[in-house]
Amino acid sequence: MTLLGSRFPRLASLPHVPLVRETPVERLEQASHETGGDLWVKRDDLTADAYGGNKVRKLERLIGDAKRQDCDVLITTGAYGSHHSLATSIFGRKWGFDVELVLVPQPITHHVEENLRADLAVGARVHPVKRWAMVPARAAALHASLRFRGRRPYRIGHGGSSPLGAVGYVEAGLELAGQIDAGLVPEPSSIHVALGSAGTVAGLAVGLAAAGLYIPIVAVRVTPLAVCNRLTVTSLLRRTVELLREHDHTFPDVARGATKMITIDGSLYGAGYGQASEAADDAIARAELDGLVLDPTYTAKAFAAFLRDGRTGRDSRLYWHTLSSADLSGLLGEAPPLPSWAK
Ligand SMILES: Cc1ncc(COP(=O)(O)O)c(C=O)c1O
Repeated sequence: MTLLGSRFPRLASLPHVPLVRETPVERLEQASHETGGDLWVKRDDLTADAYGGNKVRKLERLIGDAKRQDCDVLITTGAYGSHHSLATSIFGRKWGFDVELVLVPQPITHHVEENLRADLAVGARVHPVKRWAMVPARAAALHASLRFRGRRPYRIGHGGSSPLGAVGYVEAGLELAGQIDAGLVPEPSSIHVALGSAGTVAGLAVGLAAAGLYIPIVAVRVTPLAVCNRLTVTSLLRRTVELLREHDHTFPDVARGATKMITIDGSLYGAGYGQASEAADDAIARAELDGLVLDPTYTAKAFAAFLRDGRTGRDSRLYWHTLSSADLSGLLGEAPPLPSWAK
């Protein structure tokens, strides 16, 4: 039984496969000492052994839906180093699906190269396209050609951020509420989390609000405004609440209250998606002192905002860590070299 299903029994009928375990909350001793705040982390890097991070929570629902619809191929999209694409490749293959990825270029760092090679190592097929604008047509053509060949493709949208994907983070909100109740972490005055395709932030706000915790969420935007903005976050949040209330009318109508919890902070975005910045590099070094590994694209920018705000008072704040810390060396040992089209 999922946490959501035990709280709202009618929601137990929503699709689900078990991928995720409860993740720990820990005090960040070095960061607290350095900033003078009381800083904590939610370790969603540890959602699963094979591969952690935020995407796995969404995939519990999306792979569950693909199974329920008797599909046999997952199609998804992202940039070359997409964590969502890698999580889909790893868990999709484990659950018996073929995986097809439509990917666009981004600055090739060591981290991006490893993710792309790991996609290939688990047997995902990659279809590179030159620009974001070409992704929808390529994914639609792939879908049509798979169907023509008698396959049963299931399309997972960008970042897994559909209302059903966001339900994974509604559950994460309930999980944190339980940990606060149990005294494992003080109720924070704010939660900082990276904002990409918005499923994490939208779901989290809904889950916390459903638990009666209207904690301000600082959504640190790392993608262009055209991709993610107030409108896209609000729309996804509303549709997530609608989906839950369609299945269980006793789920509280928290859309308004949850929307008000979210502030979008674009101040750390820098020169662009995946572009390094001094603040992000500094955050990477500081997080390392507390044993956290960050990536320059998402989590370094979120953690930089967290440290900046942590310096403004002594209250408890929580950083929601969304990057997998799973060791990919076994996988990379068998991985092909970086393909020539990615160089
Ligand atoms: C490591 C990491 N953190 C945060 C995010 C943002 O999550 P969301 O797309 O749900 O906004 C992503 C999205 O790709 C990610 O890979």
